[in-house]
Amino acid sequence: MKDRTRLIHSGRHPADHAGAVNIPVYRASTLIQPTVERLENTPTPFGYGRRGTPTTRGLEESVCALEGGARTMLTPSGLSACTAALMAVLGAGDHLLMVDTVYGPTRAFCRGPLKRFGVETTFYTSTITAADLEVLIRPNTKAIFLESPGSGTFEVQDVPALAATAKAHGIAVLVDNTWATPLLFKPLTHGADLSIVAATKYLVGHADVLIGTITANEATADKLNDFHGKFGLTTSGDDAYLTQRGMRTLGVRLAQHQTTALKLARWFQARPEVERVLYPALETDPGHAIWKRDFAGASGLFGVELKPASKTAVPAMLDGYELFAMGWSWGGYESLAVTTKIDRSAPGYRPAGTLLRFHAGLEDPDDLIADLAAGFERFNAAG
Ligand SMILES: Cc1ncc(COP(=O)(O)O)c(C=O)c1O
Repeated sequence: MKDRTRLIHSGRHPADHAGAVNIPVYRASTLIQPTVERLENTPTPFGYGRRGTPTTRGLEESVCALEGGARTMLTPSGLSACTAALMAVLGAGDHLLMVDTVYGPTRAFCRGPLKRFGVETTFYTSTITAADLEVLIRPNTKAIFLESPGSGTFEVQDVPALAATAKAHGIAVLVDNTWATPLLFKPLTHGADLSIVAATKYLVGHADVLIGTITANEATADKLNDFHGKFGLTTSGDDAYLTQRGMRTLGVRLAQHQTTALKLARWFQARPEVERVLYPALETDPGHAIWKRDFAGASGLFGVELKPASKTAVPAMLDGYELFAMGWSWGGYESLAVTTKIDRSAPGYRPAGTLLRFHAGLEDPDDLIADLAAGFERFNAAG
């Protein structure tokens, strides 16, 4: 079965739900057991609402099938998927290698709670090679975390090479796969142990649910299940339902997000106000070759570095957009634009001018370009 078919048919059980095409929303904490035997030997299959219902299990099945994993677990947000995955494989005295271009709040978790619990983090440059990685590995290095492309600056990582090196040292490999989704990149088949997705973005696709997924390979599934259960992570039936409904159209949505983002990215490249466009699908992008080798496509999120301008130019441009709204998320059907501040501690790319992040939504690309063009008129008028 191909992925686009899998998206439609996975995690659906009409015969178990009166023929309903979608698994209905189960809102349940108590799940009544019919016999002492079942009561004492749960889950068979469902023992208590916190550990799952048919609605959450359906979504887990869909994500797991797409990721090619052994087990998927749901979390209440994308960030909690990142932090739970880290806690599932790390303990006091361990050393973590964290990509420097990681999503800011994941970085903050390493610097705060993870440090307090005795885990030391080294932030590494996202574009390191396998040989560079060898040098960073210590006897107590237990995990490496990757995010490709990286937050804000969109550098692509050589996941297969880094994962193979980490594996040779018995190090757990975690990948934040939110940008690509498991439709466009499959971390587990490229050597990762845990693939993490802020499903809040493209899987949900409609900007109305916060939810995360962690998918484990066979070797890591028990560890993930154990931590997830003991930590008490749970997701509501309503949120799981909306996420699975969103996933049914992920294929067509992502195809359109890519087409529009590529059109906008090329348009930005031709603008005199722009220093650089950060989008791996562009042939000129430094990460293009690896992206082309490993990914089945691109999503709709990309960066734009502007040439230095006056303080008022950027607000004049962004405040006046009619279609690009400002909001700290992405992956929904709507176009978004934000200014981006990057926090880095390892060597790597640093923009000189203002860095912007655009999410290409599902509007007509020509209307979006007209909105962006009017924005540059305000930008230039402001000096
Ligand atoms: C790459 C990445 N990972 C994780 C997250 C966290 O997701 P959530 O907002 O659902 O906690 C985000 C959110 O923006 C993200 O961009």
